[in-house]
Amino acid sequence: MPQNLTFAIAMSTLKASQHGLARIKQKRKEKGWTIDDPRWLEEASKILGTDWQEEGFFAEGISQGTWKRFLAGKLPINTGAFKAYCLVLQLNWNEIVERNIHQDWGEAPDVSIFYGRTQEVHLLEQWTIHENCRLVVILGMGGIGKTALAAKLGQQFQHEFEYIIWRSLRNAPVVEEILTEMIQFLSEQQEIDLPRNLDGKVLRLIYYLRLHRCLLVLDNAEAVLKSGDRTGNYREGYSGYGQLLRCIAETSHKSCLILTSREKPKGLAKLEGEIPVRCLQLTGLPTDAGRAIFFTKGSFIGSQDEWQVLIYHYGGNPLALKIVAAAIRDFFDSNISEFLRFLKKVTFIFDDICDLLDKQFYRLSKLEQEIMYWLAINREPINLMKLQDDFIANVPHCEIIQAIVSLQRRSLIEKNAAEFTQQPVVMEYIIAKLVERICQEITDEKMELFQSHAWIKATAKNYI
Ligand SMILES: Nc1ncnc2c1ncn2[C@@H]1O[C@H](COP(=O)(O)OP(=O)(O)OP(=O)(O)O)[C@@H](O)[C@H]1O
Ligand SMILES: [Mg+2]
Repeated sequence: MPQNLTFAIAMSTLKASQHGLARIKQKRKEKGWTIDDPRWLEEASKILGTDWQEEGFFAEGISQGTWKRFLAGKLPINTGAFKAYCLVLQLNWNEIVERNIHQDWGEAPDVSIFYGRTQEVHLLEQWTIHENCRLVVILGMGGIGKTALAAKLGQQFQHEFEYIIWRSLRNAPVVEEILTEMIQFLSEQQEIDLPRNLDGKVLRLIYYLRLHRCLLVLDNAEAVLKSGDRTGNYREGYSGYGQLLRCIAETSHKSCLILTSREKPKGLAKLEGEIPVRCLQLTGLPTDAGRAIFFTKGSFIGSQDEWQVLIYHYGGNPLALKIVAAAIRDFFDSNISEFLRFLKKVTFIFDDICDLLDKQFYRLSKLEQEIMYWLAINREPINLMKLQDDFIANVPHCEIIQAIVSLQRRSLIEKNAAEFTQQPVVMEYIIAKLVERICQEITDEKMELFQSHAWIKATAKNYI
């Protein structure tokens, strides 16, 4: 068993609620075995993969002691043993466990409507619960479902943590403010005289992360990152977040920080690997889940193929799908084929999606914007060499690579094998932007982009 896993299992504990204890008693009676019957331990051990008859010992956590503590419900026991005893009693552990009262969900959204993502939840469970990762980052473009996924995970595995605190960085609070809130929450408002400097505050937080198994969630981390130039750098006055992430990742403790961001904060790549830091690049929803999102807005008419085309067109982006579903219902009589016919005719994008992409686009450097234009014009995926030869031959190779990495980090382009392209909806947006810019240049009589290599090629592709 990997060391981290042993640690996670050993440190995570549960106990039954008052209502749970009554259910346990009832089920125990139904089973008809006495409290001291060895079968309780033998069966529980078997569930955890150790056969007492064959091995001569019980699985980790299974003993007379934990069984008695489980029944008494005064002290928590190892999570694995708790779940195994519940299974022997044919009880759903989730229904009898004592709810964690140390939870502050801040602005976490309601995720009662949530489709798909089984694999992603499973992977995140593996990292946060079983591998005891200290820092897990969920990355992806706007609207792809990072916040929803983090909320779902926290909700589903809340019993694994003694304390849960969720904070959004959308309004770019300084790191000291976030640290103060977290320390006060984890100390149950006992910490009044907090250290003044950042180092001291971070150390104080780590103290609590060692003391308890805590889940911290920082949502919308891109808000503290710099826009323009290169991505991943912290905004002026926000580099303390880098220090916080580094310290949480590198210092030994038993808690986990989940970070969601449109862009990968600088320095993370160095931390990934040996030490427990993981990144999940979130992609769109598959057709079934995308369709389910549509049905929350009404009923729609469309063939299997049409559904597929539609959901692919929006890259399975749940936010885009929600917006589009409402529009199809309101303007296209809930008819998918009508809408697809319309899509073919016009370069059209709904304002809300446009707004979402606008926010991302204006953060880009000039070179990044040019590459975005070029990939949209080119339509087909293109490799790095071709990109350089064809379009930006006078730009040094290393700068192009940096820009590509940066665009990937922002989830505005995708890499498939060795080629790069954009999600369809992004492509559509960029084309609209391009036309807008060219028109502006013509009006201003300042033909920068109009005379560029990219535009000549665009003309050849009948965009004008
Ligand atoms: N799996 C899902 N099932 C149903 N709805 C979802 C799912 N994932 C996301 N959504 C919905 O899509 C919308 C966008 O999701 P969310 O806010 O999580 O995106 P995000 O990636 O955090 O975006 P941003 O970068 O703007 O913060 C929300 O309304 C959310 O409820
Ligand atoms: Mg979000």
